[in-house]
Amino acid sequence: MTIPLNDPTAAAAPHPDAVQADPMQADGLRLDGLHKELGGRTIVDDLSLHVAAGELVCLLGPSGCGKTTTLRMIAGFLEPDRGAVVVSGRDVTHLPPERRPSAMVFQNYALWPHMTVAKNVAFPLKLAKRPRSEVNERVDRVLQLVNLLHHKDSRPGRISGGEQQRTALARALVQEPAVLLLDEPLSNLDAKLRVRVREDIREIQQRLGITTVMVTHDQDEAMAMSDRVAVMNDGRIEQVSAPRELYSNPRTEFVASFVGSVNKVPGRLTPSTLSADDGLTSAVRPESVRLDADGGRPARVTRVTPHGHFTEVRVSLDEGVDLVSYVTGAAPEVDDRVGVELGEVWYFREGERVE
Ligand SMILES: Nc1ncnc2c1ncn2[C@@H]1O[C@H](COP(=O)(O)OP(=O)(O)OP(=O)(O)O)[C@@H](O)[C@H]1O
Ligand SMILES: [Mg+2]
Repeated sequence: MTIPLNDPTAAAAPHPDAVQADPMQADGLRLDGLHKELGGRTIVDDLSLHVAAGELVCLLGPSGCGKTTTLRMIAGFLEPDRGAVVVSGRDVTHLPPERRPSAMVFQNYALWPHMTVAKNVAFPLKLAKRPRSEVNERVDRVLQLVNLLHHKDSRPGRISGGEQQRTALARALVQEPAVLLLDEPLSNLDAKLRVRVREDIREIQQRLGITTVMVTHDQDEAMAMSDRVAVMNDGRIEQVSAPRELYSNPRTEFVASFVGSVNKVPGRLTPSTLSADDGLTSAVRPESVRLDADGGRPARVTRVTPHGHFTEVRVSLDEGVDLVSYVTGAAPEVDDRVGVELGEVWYFREGERVE
């Protein structure tokens, strides 16, 4: 990958160190059964994933589920117990990080405080002993790409959090990696800046067509930025889907609960009945719980929480089930009687979707 400046369709010149890939498999990044135990526990459990060339996939999951460990194995900072990392058809599992066609942006940026922005960005090229004229040219090009050329001579301590983040991104991109790895790149930024920088990152990633794996535990971030999201739980990937599909068609109870919110009811809840069913869990999204004063199952409003563009309304069905509904427009008040109508209900048994 080279960084095109003005012509995004310009053909990429092969990197001097590039190894010719098998054209049948010259297709991004493949993880084949990656497995890692640490401290006597399984941290990453036979994890397989294919990220197509130019695709951005987020690893999304709760704290401690093994996201960073997975990324470190892809980057080469940690050796898997078994399994393989394959980039563009080439097995890189046993190569050290600097010999892999990947570059990683760390959560804390890890910028050198005593070096200017330009020197920080140039650092990996200096390590690789590239000639000075090439270094200067590549650094300028990538700083222009991330819109930081004017801060070339500033030190990291004198620029904003978002600019530091973009410096760290530039330092990864300047290596012209085949695979870009981002570990919670936005977690140090405040809410407004996060949204702006995530748009910047996505725009640059798409413009360069760079195969990217990004780690986050923020579902909004994952949904907004990804081509596909891989939801991780306890060292395993539970589902890999496009954001919309993940939300509208979760295949496990964990995914249904982790992505968006969901009402869970033990037993079999149907649009008109609730019956006991041992081991079955019914789940319905709050926006599929509709409140209508004239029809549906009788219920009482027990809590009303305004959220700006919608209102969260908790109702208690007369048969003793509490459900949360999201209401846009006029909301009822506490103690109002309403009729509840259910849209799509999912059913899970032992965590797996059964119907
Ligand atoms: N060197 C190690 N020795 C023992 N346990 C480790 C080691 N490194 C990580 N772990 C454990 O592995 C688990 C997964 O860690 P990891 O950093 O991959 O989580 P994560 O999904 O990135 O979480 P977070 O969202 O909090 O960053 C954690 O329970 C962590 O304590
Ligand atoms: Mg982590």
